[in-house]
Formats: sequence, C-alpha cells, structure tokens
Amino acid sequence: MAQNWTPNSWRQKPIQQVPDYPDQAALAATEAQLSTFPPLVFAGEARRLKSQLAKVAEGDAFLLQGGDCAESFVEHGADNIRDFFRSFLQMAVVLTYGAQLPVVKVGRIAGQFAKPRSSNFEKQGDLELPSYRGDIINGIEFTPEARTPSPERQLDAYRQSAATLNLLRAFAMGGYANLENVHKWMLGFVKDSPQGERYRKLADRISETMDFMRAIGITSENNPSLRETDFFTSHEALLLGYEEALTRVDSTSGDWYATSGHMIWIGDRTRQIDHAHVEYFRGIKNPIGLKCGPSLQPDNLIELIDALNPTNEAGRLTLICRFGHDKVAESLPKLIRAVEREGKKVVWSCDPMHGNTITLNGYKTRPFDRVLSEVESFFQIHRAEGTHPGGIHVEMTGKDVTECTGGARAVTAGDLQDRYHTHCDPRLNADQALELAFLLAERMKSGRDEKRLVVNG
Ligand code: PEP
Ligand code: CO
Repeated sequence: MAQNWTPNSWRQKPIQQVPDYPDQAALAATEAQLSTFPPLVFAGEARRLKSQLAKVAEGDAFLLQGGDCAESFVEHGADNIRDFFRSFLQMAVVLTYGAQLPVVKVGRIAGQFAKPRSSNFEKQGDLELPSYRGDIINGIEFTPEARTPSPERQLDAYRQSAATLNLLRAFAMGGYANLENVHKWMLGFVKDSPQGERYRKLADRISETMDFMRAIGITSENNPSLRETDFFTSHEALLLGYEEALTRVDSTSGDWYATSGHMIWIGDRTRQIDHAHVEYFRGIKNPIGLKCGPSLQPDNLIELIDALNPTNEAGRLTLICRFGHDKVAESLPKLIRAVEREGKKVVWSCDPMHGNTITLNGYKTRPFDRVLSEVESFFQIHRAEGTHPGGIHVEMTGKDVTECTGGARAVTAGDLQDRYHTHCDPRLNADQALELAFLLAERMKSGRDEKRLVVNG
C-alpha cells in the first residue's frame, strides 16, 4: 500500500478548483451518507480494465475513450444513453476492423459531472456569480440560487451514475452490442451522410463474415465475444470529497479502489505534484489517467509518473495528451523521449479536443480540421519515435448537435446556434465522431502495415 496514505490524506494538501460550499456541515453530512452507499463498480472490473490497458501500453490494443464533456441532470434519459452507446460502438467497430487490433472501450460517462473552470466567477452585465462547475456542484442557470454549490447534488449525481451504468451494463452484456446488430447501430441522421455510406459497406463485410462463421458453427449463441463487449466508465475525479466517500477496500486484495468509476483521471489544472489530487490518486489502485497540456515539462512528468506509478505497472497510467494542433509538434516529442529514456510503461492517448477550443459568434467551438490535424500529428510523432499511439480521448455525443465546426457535412459558424446543447465544452456529433474513427483506422492500419514490412524484411 502507498506509504502514509489514507483516503482522506489529500485533505492535508493544497488544492485547486474547490467549490465554495456555504454550509460545511451539510457537506460533511452528505459525504458521510455517500460513504454508506454501495460502490458503483467493483475492484475486479477495474483490474480487468487495467490488464486490457496493459495490452495497449505494449502496443497490442487501442484505447477508445469518449463521451460528454459534462453529463447533465436534465439530459438524463434512455435515448441519450442509447444514442451515445450506438455511436461509440460504431467507432469501436470501425477501429477494430480497420486496425485489426482489440479496442478497449471506456466511456466518459456515469460520473463525468465535475468541471474545472479557468475563472471562479462569471460576469453577465453588472451581475457576477460563481462559475458553473458541473451539475454535481451547482446549476448552470445564471441565478444566485442555482450557482450556489449544494451538497445534495452529489446524491443526485451518484444516483444518475448508478442508473446510467445499469443501462450501459445491460446494453453491453444483454444483446445490444451483439455484432449481429452491426447495421442497427446506425443512427437515423447518419444514414444519409458520406460516413453513413462508408459505415454501411463495412457493416456489410462484417455481416458476411458472420454468415460464414455461422456456417462453420461459430455463432453469437455459442460465442460470448460476438454477443457481448466489455464497456468501462471513467471521469475526471475532481471533487475529492465525493471520491473519498466512494473509496473502498477490496476484500480480496486489501487494496483501496475508487468505486465511482472504473478509470478516473487528473485534469490538466490539478496535476501539481505536491497537491491534493496527486495525493489522492497515488493511493488507489484503479487504472488512472493524467491530462498532459503544453505547460507540462519532461522532468515534471517523470516526477508525476514516479509518484503515481512507482512500480511501473503497465496499464496503470494513461497519459492523455491535449496540446492543440499547433503545439503538439513542440510538446509531445520531448515527453515521449523522457518516458522512453526512463523506461516508463504508459499508454499514450490523444485528446484532440481541449487544446483546440476557440470562440466563434459567442460560442465555444472546435474546428474539426484542427481536431483531425492534432490526431494526425500525434500518429506521425509516435511513428517517428517508434512508440505506440495507443488511444484517443474525445468529447462526443450520439446526437446531431452543432457544436464543433466542419466535418463532411460542414457545420458552419452560423449553424452553431441551431443545436448547441453542451453544458460545457463543444462535442463531436455522431457524424464527426464516425469520420474521426475512419481516419484513425486508416492511420493505424498503415502503421501496422509498415511494421509488418519491417518485421518481414
Ligand atoms: C476535460 O476533459 O473536460 C477537461 C477539463 O480537460 P483538461 O483537464 O485537459 O483541460
Ligand atoms: Co471538456
């Protein structure tokens, strides 16, 4: 077990991004109540994800991580969860087929509620109120009541997470993810797009292969891997009081696990080595992520890796790189070289969203070509360094939103107002997400072909 660590040792450290709860006694009472609630996930599941991520670290699998920037209470419903899951499965099948690598599936869902903010306050006209920090903390409406942090929201977030996870488990294990449904995952509005056409062709080929396999006796009835899939949950563990309340000892190993989700990550704004978030994360055994932005220097990264993964366990640590299309070439190679020089085992994942946010017509948006450009650079740099571009981390939805500009069905600056629904950052819509998956599949396939050529001389 990590030395001098307890689930609440983070409370002795400096901390960033803390909400200002007016009623500390009510907060403590809520945390005490949460600590009696059942865990949302089990340690064995987190270990299973860690072992799948170890394969990614070794170059034998690919990580697909995606979902909302911020889940919201008002948008909680079966249709949203189903549409997200369909869109996510489509991406996964495109990647698996194109790259011929197993895809590790991790949603930003069932717990992705707390948001770090660049400013503590928001001003509209003469009125200044606390910034919105995610539905688990306060409300998005610009009123003093909504913006005051309220502890009860943590109970609502817990319950929403439990209900979401319940449906996701049913989808993943109960037949919805059966490969025989590969055509049914197509969403109505994607059907008529160029990506829809590409997807249909790929689904036809998979169906043909399934027919062939059925003819020789391999069916989804007798083969669970055709009928079920592993699907894991993740979120930024920003609100440490909530996380602490759901931190539990695993009875089989005696180790501590965060049970609020399978994988949790540290945001780019809260990764100071001597602060509370790093302290909390070093003691739990889940697979974890660390967001790496342009200000992260190679020496700091190595210190963080030593603190967070002292035994150099493969699959424990995913570095989620979010530099921006114009900064990735400067920032990424030096981090890769430091990690290689020190022999650290990590998963390299690319978040092409958070470094590419701009404002257009008063809307926060992300030009799709910049998203693609950061992904392309990420792949090229890893090829040049001889390392594995292991994964992708995206903000996406299964809905036909207009939040990011561009894509094959070009969303323009003028379109942003049409269906701009996000509670925080702009997400890829289902079309754009699928387009990205096709591009990734091509890049991964060409990388593998090159490798085979080298191996076979
Ligand atoms: C996020 O993933 O929504 C986020 C806030 O990211 P970052 O910490 O990389 O800015
Ligand atoms: Co975001």
